[in-house]
Amino acid sequence: MKTVHVALGARAYDVQIGAGGLENAGEMLLPLLPRKRVVIVSDDTVAKAHLGAFQAALETSGIACESLTLPPGEATKCWRELEHVVEWLLARKVERRDVVVALGGGVIGDLVGFAAAILRRGVRFVQIPTSLLAQVDSSVGGKTGINSPSGKNLVGAFHQPSLVLADITVLDTLSDRDFLAGYGEVVKYGLLGDATFFDWLESNADAIRRRDRAALTHAVGRSVEMKAEIVARDETEQGDRALLNLGHTFCHALESATGYSDRLLHGEGVAIGCGLAFELSSRLGLCAQEDPSRLRAHLKQMGMKVDLADVPGDLPSAEALYALMGQDKKVLDGAIRFILARGIGQAFVTADVPRETVLAVLEDGLRGR
Ligand code: GLY
Repeated sequence: MKTVHVALGARAYDVQIGAGGLENAGEMLLPLLPRKRVVIVSDDTVAKAHLGAFQAALETSGIACESLTLPPGEATKCWRELEHVVEWLLARKVERRDVVVALGGGVIGDLVGFAAAILRRGVRFVQIPTSLLAQVDSSVGGKTGINSPSGKNLVGAFHQPSLVLADITVLDTLSDRDFLAGYGEVVKYGLLGDATFFDWLESNADAIRRRDRAALTHAVGRSVEMKAEIVARDETEQGDRALLNLGHTFCHALESATGYSDRLLHGEGVAIGCGLAFELSSRLGLCAQEDPSRLRAHLKQMGMKVDLADVPGDLPSAEALYALMGQDKKVLDGAIRFILARGIGQAFVTADVPRETVLAVLEDGLRGR
């Protein structure tokens, strides 16, 4: 197992990454438990695949548990299920020093983390992320929350977990599409801050596609290391943490235009969004013209969606997409903040981007459809 420490003073914690974490989960949880008991929240799909193994591991370590499973999917991240989880935890008499375990992907992690943040003004929780996206992004860094009818992730809190267990073997059960969508976030880390890691991803594309355990441990481990460094510098996103949103301004507009549906998964939108951010950076003379082409070639090599042309169904005009970008959470004083790059591994945040250049990039992308 590889350990990454998230250095946040009194809120510091470890992320354990590698094959077999679930089997040893009991041992890793024991030091956190004043009484040998945990409560688990998962979803039906993940529970079918992994809850039995997790419960067996807890039993081996003499830890009692109770579990709640919710319907899978983004719709679960809502007020009603939040109330359901909080009331269920209260009925189980979960106390401040107890540990609530979120066993699942980003939806379960965000919802259960938020329930833990508000229950008795904050109980501890452990993330056991079961999707690649959750392992490299949402389970680390303490962003928790739910969606509101007014928009995604609009209600939430920063609440850091006490431990994150990323077992690489659970990724075996993901569909190719979900796996590759999560990989969009892995590529993002190379692009935003580590050109050597991006080189490594290019050279190890086949091993990653085969879900080779050593390759995945390195890919997840390096992604988490980078996220941990950024979160330790800027826990509540006053500055550098916005770099983690590379590709996301375009992605959120595309997700909104496709109704947050199966037409475009979040990680697919991130990959396409990173391509657009690099194209924009190149048009603005910030990075070499080869950089966006190199990124596209790598996404193609992985068998991923690459361009606007790969989004099925109709898309609105460039103007309409630009308007949707203006509704992004990162908009500050009315100005859209972009994450651009001076090259692979050299991202930065700026609001100084001419509207016409963004529209030209979107129009060219839409013409390719
Ligand atoms: N997913 C972006 C962040 O955690 O800040």
